[in-house]
Amino acid sequence: MKKISVRAAKGKYDVLVGRGALGHLPHVIAKVGEGKAVFVISSPRVWRHCGTRIEKILGHSRRKTILMDDAETAKNLSTVERACRDLVRAGADRRALVIAVGGGVVGDVAGYVAASYARGIGVVHIPTTVVAQVDSALGGKTGVNLPEGKNLVGAFYPPQAVLADPDILATLPSREFRSGIYEIIKYGVIGDVKLFRFLEDGMEKLLRRDSAALQFVIERSVAQKARVVSEDEHESGLREILNYGHTFAHALESVTRYRKYLHGEAVGWGMIAAAKLAVAEGIFSARDAERVMRLTRSVGPLPAWPAVPPARLVAAMQADKKTRAGRLRFVLPERIGKVRCGVEVAADNLLRVLRECAAPQTVTQASAGPRR
Ligand SMILES: NC(=O)c1ccc[n+]([C@@H]2O[C@H](COP(=O)([O-])OP(=O)(O)OC[C@H]3O[C@@H](n4cnc5c(N)ncnc54)[C@H](O)[C@@H]3O)[C@@H](O)[C@H]2O)c1
Ligand SMILES: [Zn+2]
Repeated sequence: MKKISVRAAKGKYDVLVGRGALGHLPHVIAKVGEGKAVFVISSPRVWRHCGTRIEKILGHSRRKTILMDDAETAKNLSTVERACRDLVRAGADRRALVIAVGGGVVGDVAGYVAASYARGIGVVHIPTTVVAQVDSALGGKTGVNLPEGKNLVGAFYPPQAVLADPDILATLPSREFRSGIYEIIKYGVIGDVKLFRFLEDGMEKLLRRDSAALQFVIERSVAQKARVVSEDEHESGLREILNYGHTFAHALESVTRYRKYLHGEAVGWGMIAAAKLAVAEGIFSARDAERVMRLTRSVGPLPAWPAVPPARLVAAMQADKKTRAGRLRFVLPERIGKVRCGVEVAADNLLRVLRECAAPQTVTQASAGPRR
């Protein structure tokens, strides 16, 4: 197990990552909670899988458990209100400590509840999905969706600690698990060539959830996210590199109304498209692009590219809140392990890439050929 520190404006916090991290929960509560009343927030499904284990670790210490729906459609202000009212009824005051146990939905909602309840109470994250362990539990972004769009209401609110234990992922459905692997590939492409090579050699092991492989890739991913958000907590510069593949991904999710792809799957397609675009722009070699595409496809089959005109995807990209004044800017790889941010691309290159992704041959799974 490793301890990785994250710097935030409100002070630094530790991420305990690796097998055995969960066992440190009582110690972490004693340290950050200083005798505060503990309120666990989780979902019925997550609690069914992980509750007994966490109850056992918490032993006889006093706490109350609040369960919330963790469907993406329940990531809204009504769920926040309900959780806050549950906290009031359970007797939480300004000195309460929330332990958020779940995937990104539970983490984003419970984090936002903690940010607003009594103007801010402590929160410790116990992420239970790959996405939550390598991404959403770190960095302090919390919030919920509005009918008008995703994550439109929220706050930067760093946790007091994060416990990322790969053993808790054992019960995760396979599609959810694979979806998180795409975000791990992203960390390889944007800044960790050693991680990328490890994935090229060990994808099979990882998909079997081999615990040493899982521990390695989660640790490397957490280390990188921690480094990036420590340097740029409020997304004014470096943090943009985390959006590699995401301009395409958000467009794919939006035109399919969030029903066709899990987020990581959309990122998988997004990384393929961004690699092709970088080649078209002359900043990335075709050979490295092939490696990115082969690795991405080795995770499993992606749901097909949507049958919509490229212009609709471009329009969806322009509507993305991360574009500036409608101008499309991409995070594109220069080599494996290094990306360039804010690249404005030629419109015909973009359209060509979108058409290429829609072509049937890019949907077929690449065979796991030699790496180099
Ligand atoms: N705050 C951030 O920086 C950030 C970053 C990335 C994603 N997100 C958000 O995270 C959300 C997606 O999160 P996610 O991918 O973790 O999925 P999720 O929270 O939707 O969970 C996926 C499913 O897995 C189940 N589940 C969770 N843990 C389990 C376990 N250990 N065993 C069995 N089942 C389990 C859940 O009940 C749910 O049905 C999105 O809302 C996204 O916007 C936020
Ligand atoms: Zn993502």
